[in-house]
Formats: sequence, structure tokens, C-alpha cells
Amino acid sequence: MKKEEILKAFNFRHACKIFDENRKISKEDLNFILETGRLSPSSFGMEHWKFLVVQNQELKEKLKPLCWGQSQITTCSDLVIILSKNSVLKADSDYVKSIFERRELSKEQIEQYLKVYSNFMKDKENKKDLYSWARAQCYIAGGNMMSSASMIGVDSCPIEGIESKEAIESALNIDVNKFDLALIIAFGYRVNPQSQKKRLNFEEIVEIIE
Ligand SMILES: Cc1cc2nc3c(=O)[nH]c(=O)nc-3n(C[C@H](O)[C@H](O)[C@H](O)COP(=O)(O)O)c2cc1C
Repeated sequence: MKKEEILKAFNFRHACKIFDENRKISKEDLNFILETGRLSPSSFGMEHWKFLVVQNQELKEKLKPLCWGQSQITTCSDLVIILSKNSVLKADSDYVKSIFERRELSKEQIEQYLKVYSNFMKDKENKKDLYSWARAQCYIAGGNMMSSASMIGVDSCPIEGIESKEAIESALNIDVNKFDLALIIAFGYRVNPQSQKKRLNFEEIVEIIE
């Protein structure tokens, strides 16, 4: 992989406002994008996410007014709803245990991991803190998916502009005892050329302590 090519893809990626409604992402390309989300790192390897892919036009139309009426919602090929897990992340859950057990460690090592995890989770006992921790992991997966999409010429737009998290969860029939809405990302192909990239200078945001 050439560095210039990677940077070209990063420059190609922009928050696409209107997608070409007639162009659909192939199943192979969509799976490639989702796979890069699946392979993302997560704290303690808990894979805090679930990726819900909305292709149904009626459902997209229903979601649009809940997302500030943004055209990305209905013009995109695939609307990826990243959900963050909640109750299963609690220290005493079978899920957490299974995640440690799959590492093929000794019984003692698993016990040790569970202890450390349990301690780590002490300040995440309330819903809000648990959500903000789990959601942060989902954003990593989302970032990776947008980057990988750009490398195969697929456009994207992350969407935080929503009326309320609860309204979206309800429209999608999400079981809120298991999941929270973390982030929405629209994927598709641009109609208009992208505007010039605006970024602070490298020196303004990078400080190296030698
Ligand atoms: C988490 C997140 C949420 C965003 N939500 C929206 C949104 O709801 N609508 C939109 O048009 N752009 C949204 N953006 C896009 C940003 O405005 C955009 O990334 C930023 O202005 C930089 O422009 P660029 O991505 O085109 O380089 C969001 C970006 C991020 C990272």
C-alpha cells in the first residue's frame, strides 16, 4: 500500500451531502466496509457494537425527519446504524466472561482479567457513563469504515444531527435494554464534487515531546 494512495483516499473522503440515488454499493463492497468495522479495536476486546444496515427506502424516509431532514438519509445506498451494547458489558455478564474465555487463557488468568475488568467498570455503573464508554468504541469502528470506504471510492457521511436518540431507537424498534444508538453513517456515491478541505495546519494540532 502506497502512502500517497492512502492519503489520496483520506482526501477523497468528505462529509457527502447528497448521494446518487441510482447507484447502489455492491454487496461485496458493503461487506468489505462492514468487515473493516468488525476488525476494529475495542477496549478489552468487548466489540461494543452492532451494525444495523438500513436499505429499506420506506424506513429511510421515516428516519429522515428525525435526522434534521438531511438528504443523506434517503439518497444514500446504505444507512449504517451503529448500535452500542449496554447491559451485556456489565462485569458479571456471561458475554464478558465469554470474551475473556475465547482468549484461551488459563482459568486463573481469566479470573484475573475479570477482576481487572470489574474494577475498570466501577465508574461505569450508571447508564450514562457506560454509554459514553461503549459509544467511544463504536466511533472507532465508524471511522475505520469511512476510511476503508474511501479507499474503494465509496462516499460517506457521519450523522450526529438527529432530533433525539430515543426517537431513532423507537423508529428502528431497538431493544434499549440491549442497545443504544451510537452513530449513523450514510454510505453511497456522491452527486456533487466535494468542497475544498478545510483543516488546521499540521503544526497547530501536533506537538511532539522528544
Ligand atoms: C461524529 C460526526 C457527526 C457528524 N454529523 C454530521 C451531520 O449530521 N450532518 C452532516 O452533514 N455532517 C456531519 N458531520 C460531518 C462534519 O461536519 C465534517 O466531517 C466536517 O465538517 C469536516 O468536513 P469533511 O468531513 O468534509 O472533511 C459529522 C461528522 C462527525 C465526525
